[in-house]
Amino acid sequence: MPELEIALRPAEPEDARLLFNWRNDDLTRQVSFHSEKISWEEHIVWYNNSLSSTSRQIFIGEVLPDQSPCGQVRFDLLSPEEAEISIVIAPEWRGKGLGKKIISAGVEKFHVENPAVLTIIANIKPENAASKKVFQHCGFEYIETYMGKEDFLSEKWLLRIS
Ligand SMILES: CC(C)(COP(=O)(O)OP(=O)(O)OC[C@H]1O[C@@H](n2cnc3c(N)ncnc32)[C@H](O)[C@@H]1OP(=O)(O)O)[C@@H](O)C(=O)NCCC(=O)NCCS
Repeated sequence: MPELEIALRPAEPEDARLLFNWRNDDLTRQVSFHSEKISWEEHIVWYNNSLSSTSRQIFIGEVLPDQSPCGQVRFDLLSPEEAEISIVIAPEWRGKGLGKKIISAGVEKFHVENPAVLTIIANIKPENAASKKVFQHCGFEYIETYMGKEDFLSEKWLLRIS
């Protein structure tokens, strides 16, 4: 199968439903630290706050040439030098190597816009083997397993941008 190419664009208000569906997908909830389904009302408040936040950026990945939305990559600034990354690949696009592509394209885009950020952190549930594989492939290194605030185990993976 030929390799898929993707492009990223900033998330827009019109993407609210798309992100809601991806957030509430069964696997996404299972691998999230808060596993309950999210209501539309709760999502809309979160999404509008996210779009207006200066410390959060969300990009939508689109498969070329059709521009089919295939996932999202989100960055949260933790400090002027450090950001956290989070990704979701749309259920119908999983298993095609797009996780790696969305991370690489996202880090590149985020770095161009935020050159002071030299460290990107991914917090991953220990049992999320697919996620660990894609982040490792993109240069992230395992740092530690720790107990999170709400009594869940998390693995911290880190990418240093040089
Ligand atoms: C995790 C996720 C981003 C992976 O993206 P993807 O494009 O579907 O990744 P792929 O299917 O290409 O798989 C990547 C690798 O993991 C492997 N893999 C897939 N499922 C696996 C599983 N259940 N156990 C072990 N390895 C698995 C694949 O074989 C592949 O390995 P390879 O690179 O050696 O071929 C995607 O499944 C997803 O969106 N999951 C739900 C949300 C999520 O987990 N987000 C990350 C939270 S930190």
